[in-house]
Amino acid sequence: MRRRYGVIAAIVLLLVFGGLFYQGMKGRETEHKRSIRIGVTLYRGDDSFINTIRANLEEQAKEYEKETGIKVVMEIVDAKGNQNTQDSQVDRFISLGYDAICVNIVDRSMASNIISKAMEADLPVVFFNREPVEEDMRRWEKLYYVGENAKESAVLQGNILVDAYKKDPSSLDFNGDGKVSYALLEGENSHQDSLIRTEWSIQTLKDGGVPLEKITGGMANWDRSQASAWMEQWILDYPDQLEVVICNNDDMALGAADALERNGYKRPVKIVGIDGTPQGLEGLRSGKIFGTVQCDNREYASVIFKIAAAASLSQDVQKEVPLYDGKYYECSQKAVHAD
Ligand code: BGC
Repeated sequence: MRRRYGVIAAIVLLLVFGGLFYQGMKGRETEHKRSIRIGVTLYRGDDSFINTIRANLEEQAKEYEKETGIKVVMEIVDAKGNQNTQDSQVDRFISLGYDAICVNIVDRSMASNIISKAMEADLPVVFFNREPVEEDMRRWEKLYYVGENAKESAVLQGNILVDAYKKDPSSLDFNGDGKVSYALLEGENSHQDSLIRTEWSIQTLKDGGVPLEKITGGMANWDRSQASAWMEQWILDYPDQLEVVICNNDDMALGAADALERNGYKRPVKIVGIDGTPQGLEGLRSGKIFGTVQCDNREYASVIFKIAAAASLSQDVQKEVPLYDGKYYECSQKAVHAD
């Protein structure tokens, strides 16, 4: 009997000390980790907004190294709009033993593959800008999402025009027919920002009492030259009708403005975008576009980076960044416009 107690006591002691030793080692590993390795994959490296985030991420990594003395290895790759390519990039990050990955997913409905592999490898994932569906995001506690509130962007954009109309209706309804005639340029039809921005920009104008008439619209996939091609066509189809062009992002707003400029179009069409990219803000200063919604893209990149760094060091991410639902962060934004 006494012998059996002895064996049980030995096992208990072994478990307790074994556990303490493991915790101690783990703590020391975190404490002594002097470098972190982060993989970043972009849905398209030639997207202006994504490029701004990329440049800011690189800045953040440098600042973090300076502040903490922890070396950061950050590899940024371009999936060139192909989900299979992106899946292989993630496989490679996993095989290289990266500490965290940041994924700007090509197809937001196809995140489950990447999530399963990351879970298996215990690799935290910070998704950004292209939001996986909620069902996928709920699968694991080490999945995060950083983006903007699309409804907020749209309401801010709509209100730029509502304010202009209230101040002077003829600034938008310049042919004086009692209606503001508009065209709409939309991003990808599968992107959450595009769908919500379109709905709420128009709703905001209606709620603000602007009498609207839709003349035409098209999908230009966030792209400046595709938007420009639409606008070229509309100048021919509706030579005297368009008064306002509402665009889901700045690049498409600039594309529409390019077409007007190229055709020597003289009517004071007001073009609005969203993003506040350096090119968009420059377009605003030079009078190409009337307004945009600027997202704080330094904050955007800094949050993506902070989450990835904290997760890499097994720190409490919530202590570093205030997240809602334990996984989401929305960046701040503001309207900017010509007077
Ligand atoms: C931005 C676009 C960008 C797109 C890419 C949107 O949130 O406003 O400029 O092209 O994300 O996913």
